[in-house]
Amino acid sequence: MSREEITPHRKIFVANWKMNGTSSFAEAYGAFFREKYQDVPKNTFTIICPPAPYLKILHDAAQGIVLLGIQNTATERKGAFTGEISADMAADMGCRYGLVGHSERRHLYQENNTIVFEKAVRLAEAGITPILCVGETYEQREAGQTACILAQQLQGMGRLPLTQEVIVAYEPVWAIGTGKTPTPQNVQETHRTIHAILRAEGLSAIPLLYGGSVTAANAKDFVSLEEVQGVLVGGASLKCEEFLSIVQSIEL
Ligand code: 13P
Repeated sequence: MSREEITPHRKIFVANWKMNGTSSFAEAYGAFFREKYQDVPKNTFTIICPPAPYLKILHDAAQGIVLLGIQNTATERKGAFTGEISADMAADMGCRYGLVGHSERRHLYQENNTIVFEKAVRLAEAGITPILCVGETYEQREAGQTACILAQQLQGMGRLPLTQEVIVAYEPVWAIGTGKTPTPQNVQETHRTIHAILRAEGLSAIPLLYGGSVTAANAKDFVSLEEVQGVLVGGASLKCEEFLSIVQSIEL
């Protein structure tokens, strides 16, 4: 996505399937979006991040109606790293977007900022737009540390050799998969804080997404906010009909 293509009214919808699905699920999901292509609002970017083995199946079934994203990539370019997937491989499979810094990677796989930033740089080098995820835990929020944690997670970003666009996704850890969400006003305030942090890093006009228990029932509350350029959806993206409804929420 080039900067020219991003306008505040062009919203971004990202489906993160996490470690879910099968080959037939991926095929049916892609076919659904291909069949419903006229129902996908034109002023949207619909990005699907399936598990890596299903990228090609989804790509072939959707026939260009959705954009592809990779959920995780390596810090290294190539070589003896058994089980890893490089950013170049993801690009080769047609991915234009890549998640980095997701809270599940930070907490379950101990990925610190150094690792997160290395992965973001590898993605950018491969021509993939990193979607950098940040967010505080419940304890950090209760302790009033949200702004400080977000600043830590974004510190140094302005010095990275990111040749491509970057997208930042605010995903409060306590909202992921819990059915709990911050209020739209909370999201608005936190997004303003993130913009201020990014400006201090010398970065402006970075699109900000919200993620965490987004559903067809609440998506409009978030995407209608000026500060929110789109949403990153986990569980609710596993139902293609619901994910399409979420994308259509910009028209409600
Ligand atoms: P849920 O939408 O299931 O809360 O997951 C959010 C998320 O982690 C997307 O990356």
